[in-house]
Amino acid sequence: MRLPLMELNAQSAYIVVGTLLTCHVIYRFVVRRLQARTLPPKYWSWEFIKNFDYLFYTNINPRNWVKFQTNLGPTYRVSNIFNPMSSICTGDPENVHAMLAGRDWGNQFRLNGMGQMFEKGLLTVDGDEWMRSRKMVRPAFQRNNLDDFEVLSQMTEKMIAQIEKEKQVVDVGALLTDAFLNTSMHFILGLDPGKEDDGRPFSVSEFMKLWHEGIMGTGLRLILEHQHWMLPKKRFAIVCQKLHSFIDFAIAKARQNKDAQKSSKSMVYTILPHAASSADARAQLMHTLFANQDTTSTLISNVVQILSTRPAIWTQLRTEVLEQGSHLFTFDNLRNNKVIQNIILEALRHRVIATPIGRRAIRHTILPKGGGIDGQSPLHIPAGTTGLVNLWSLHSDPKVYGADADEFKPERWNHIKPGTNEFLPFGAGGRACLGQEKAVVETAFVLSKLSGRFESVQDMTGEWKPMGGMTIKNSSGYKVAFKSSVEMD
Ligand code: HEM
Repeated sequence: MRLPLMELNAQSAYIVVGTLLTCHVIYRFVVRRLQARTLPPKYWSWEFIKNFDYLFYTNINPRNWVKFQTNLGPTYRVSNIFNPMSSICTGDPENVHAMLAGRDWGNQFRLNGMGQMFEKGLLTVDGDEWMRSRKMVRPAFQRNNLDDFEVLSQMTEKMIAQIEKEKQVVDVGALLTDAFLNTSMHFILGLDPGKEDDGRPFSVSEFMKLWHEGIMGTGLRLILEHQHWMLPKKRFAIVCQKLHSFIDFAIAKARQNKDAQKSSKSMVYTILPHAASSADARAQLMHTLFANQDTTSTLISNVVQILSTRPAIWTQLRTEVLEQGSHLFTFDNLRNNKVIQNIILEALRHRVIATPIGRRAIRHTILPKGGGIDGQSPLHIPAGTTGLVNLWSLHSDPKVYGADADEFKPERWNHIKPGTNEFLPFGAGGRACLGQEKAVVETAFVLSKLSGRFESVQDMTGEWKPMGGMTIKNSSGYKVAFKSSVEMD
């Protein structure tokens, strides 16, 4: 038999729960409406759980960054069913400054996807741990460590010999990737590129195959984040373990080589005295290999391909190089040569290399722009929001670069002076690229050698179709035909 009191209690409970639910729905509705008035315009994602479509469109053609900004404004959001602002994308220099210079945004979120292959190091930590890592890695990039061109010179000569042998069309991107793989083995790991019989567990080319496999696995883990448990684990674990064994070999070799410890400029030697353990050193070396991989080689490939359709600029470069002669090939002369530097700066502007610089809000924070009806008010950013810097729009802003910003014109650098957050091919703020001086001077070195040797270069690739990956490259390669003065006669 049911007691009337129990019935009353059950009825009241239903009423209370029902009222609470209704209040919650009304509250969410009102909050959303209020937010909608103050939140920036929205990119309508049709994949509304992880926004894979946004990732896809910006990677398959990074010029979509400009398209989205033109349609939505300098600061817009990407939302999914769980979050009205899962990411905030900005090409506003003030917001870029707040994201990259402030302490409210970090990189530790990457550890989830990168941790297994890269462990804890410079690119996956924040705060004091990051400061300690950066201090450890930085000495390898000191000025007196960067003016030794011996290995680079050997690699460049080898590449030029290969181009001369092929006589026909070469993929300069592939040749440069090989050359820079060897220079980084020397610069970062202290390994001699020509000595495969020094006891290393496997060859550099095998290392590279495993590296690419590892990067693929890491990329998928970064995209899936907490859901990366769905991915197959066994093969990825083997790949990571093999890659670690290669780096461990370089560390053990450096620990034994007392002579090199006194004189070598390679990073493995500059890091070891400060590393907490071999595993710590391994992580920092892996992180630098990652940051280094494909960056300088992509920049040089871009310049060569751009100039392959602009013979007048190639001739101007060649004339300058021949006029300067052998004394051009010092750090200072390469770094300060206006003709060469203007070409490099313009290439860095015109073809963005870095995939978008990303951060995540560590705590609730504010961006100076993007809020309010006109987007000019401060914008509240909840902790956990991903921030993405739109380098493409920043680098093609006509207000900064002129109405002809879409064209490749090195001479514009004689009169423009963009701010730190308007031109940032190497990032900005505390986490700006440690290798930028190295990349620029090495690019100047290789370009000068190539243009000094070859009278002309002709495009064999066709239209430039950028595609994202670890760096943004031309999807159909970098095929060109070099011609030396003898062949031209
Ligand atoms: C054209 C060549 C290069 C470009 C365009 C480039 C671009 C960048 C960018 C945009 C960042 C900042 C990423 C962020 O804020 O999250 C960065 C960071 C970094 N880069 Fe480069 N980079 C280049 C070459 C290199 C080279 C050759 C090395 C090393 C040999 C290197 C080492 C690093 C390191 C260690 C960092 C991390 C700094 C930190 O988190 O504190 N980069 N790079």
